[in-house]
Amino acid sequence: MKLIRHISALRSLLNTHREAGRQIALVPTMGNLHAGHVRLVEEAHCHGDVVVCTIFVNPMQFGKNEDLDAYPRTLDADMQKLEEAGCTVLFAPSVTEIYPGGLEQQTVVAVPKLSECHCGASRHGHFDGVATVVSKLFNMVQPQTALFGLKDYQQFMVISKMVTDLCFPISIVGVETQREASGLALSSRNGYLTNDEKSRATTLYQTLQDSRDRLQAGTPIDAVESQARAQLEAAGFRPDYFSVCHALTLEPAQHGDDYLVILAAAWMGKTRLIDNLRLQLT
Ligand code: PAF
Repeated sequence: MKLIRHISALRSLLNTHREAGRQIALVPTMGNLHAGHVRLVEEAHCHGDVVVCTIFVNPMQFGKNEDLDAYPRTLDADMQKLEEAGCTVLFAPSVTEIYPGGLEQQTVVAVPKLSECHCGASRHGHFDGVATVVSKLFNMVQPQTALFGLKDYQQFMVISKMVTDLCFPISIVGVETQREASGLALSSRNGYLTNDEKSRATTLYQTLQDSRDRLQAGTPIDAVESQARAQLEAAGFRPDYFSVCHALTLEPAQHGDDYLVILAAAWMGKTRLIDNLRLQLT
């Protein structure tokens, strides 16, 4: 695997691969890699001859009071995992490489509507930061395919919409959430949890599954949502949102909608966790 720090070196290496007729698959990450990221890299091999992984903790997608400084930077361990997963190129640029003029005057890519609800409502500007950095990475790497984890389902939908609206010739592939045996979705932020918080955090996925069962049994949506909030609070969570939505528009589900996603975000102590579950009612 080749470690690259600069856009110019990345472009020239990838041009060589392109001239040789190789397909490029991209896995963008913020590092602190876990088995969920490794799964993305493995899946990327099904879509490209060259697998490019990026590690960049993107300041533009963090709010003022969020965990940008605390976010774990673990490059050596990440490189070992990527080597083992057969990654071809690792692009790990500095902040000045990506934002040479600073953030203040950076052109922003904004995906309206889909970015404004759920995580976008509690993390103002977050998805503008994601869409902007992902579009920059797309222009640097010019992959045929890019892969994203479905744990961040809203992010996946925002990026899919951006790609359609801006005519990026890139296929976006969503890869299923990887979970611990307890059901807890793998996330870099799980590392912030104490052992006790981690065992209580398993209630998040349990609540999603119980809510799915209640919806399938015909319980009305608002009753499902309020039962879920109570279930999360009983486990020590402070729910941010718990919403049954149309899986494509992310708007509140209406009676008769059958392709649904249940989106959840909740605080366990100082850690904000998200998860989701998709279901087809008929
Ligand atoms: O999902 C992430 O890790 C980040 O939001 C992404 C897509 C790498 C953009 O910084």
